[in-house]
Amino acid sequence: MRKIVIAGNWKMFKTQAESLEFLQGFMPSLEHTPEDREVVLCVPYTDLYQLSKNLHGSRIQLGAQNVHWEDSGAYTGEISGEMLAEIGTRYVIVGHSERRQYFGETNETVNKRLLAAQKYALTPILCVGETKQQRDVGEIESTVTKQLKQGLVGVDQENLVIAYEPIWAIGTGDTCEAVEANRVIGLIRSQLSNPKVSIQYGGSVKPNNIDEIMAQPEIDGALVGGASLEPDSFAQLVNYK
Ligand code: PGA
Repeated sequence: MRKIVIAGNWKMFKTQAESLEFLQGFMPSLEHTPEDREVVLCVPYTDLYQLSKNLHGSRIQLGAQNVHWEDSGAYTGEISGEMLAEIGTRYVIVGHSERRQYFGETNETVNKRLLAAQKYALTPILCVGETKQQRDVGEIESTVTKQLKQGLVGVDQENLVIAYEPIWAIGTGDTCEAVEANRVIGLIRSQLSNPKVSIQYGGSVKPNNIDEIMAQPEIDGALVGGASLEPDSFAQLVNYK
């Protein structure tokens, strides 16, 4: 059985006070969440520390949004796997399209970050996906294949989640058709050595489309930006039918 993983990506949103307010509103709704669903919050570093002190006994798993490949060193602005693991972080997003677009992340640096995450027993969530332009010229498969091939060199597929996030669907309200997302995710799975890797869909996942997305046989969860910021909407996502 592949694990269902519903993960929120808060990006650069929420102060510590706001993160605790979210928690208060969100926690009660987990009573209705089926046991076999993993609920993850990938939050800013300051919130990570705050939430790690307030999540004891809760089923919410903590996730970071990046990790450096070295254990320590002169890397201003970066954070190491050891630092994340020390405060109870379990997941880390690697290679999100915003990192690739604005911060020069490449398949090579993504690969190094994946390996570093696994060294500290963090489960990386590797993001892959094509731009609108690549889709329009028929380069979905080749783009995603290259991201996987170069990103996954030496990576242990027993401790890995992949998120298919078509870039044109992120933050736009323009969700990829569920059937199409299912098709690309099937294609991704066919390129893995471990067919049990959980593969999420991400890109404008909302309470009104989660049921259709999760009804697809290849889709094992969602990586959610905007709709993870409000307790009510994230609750509806983790409690999809
Ligand atoms: P979105 O973001 O749900 O706001 O489209 C998804 C993501 O960036 O992971």
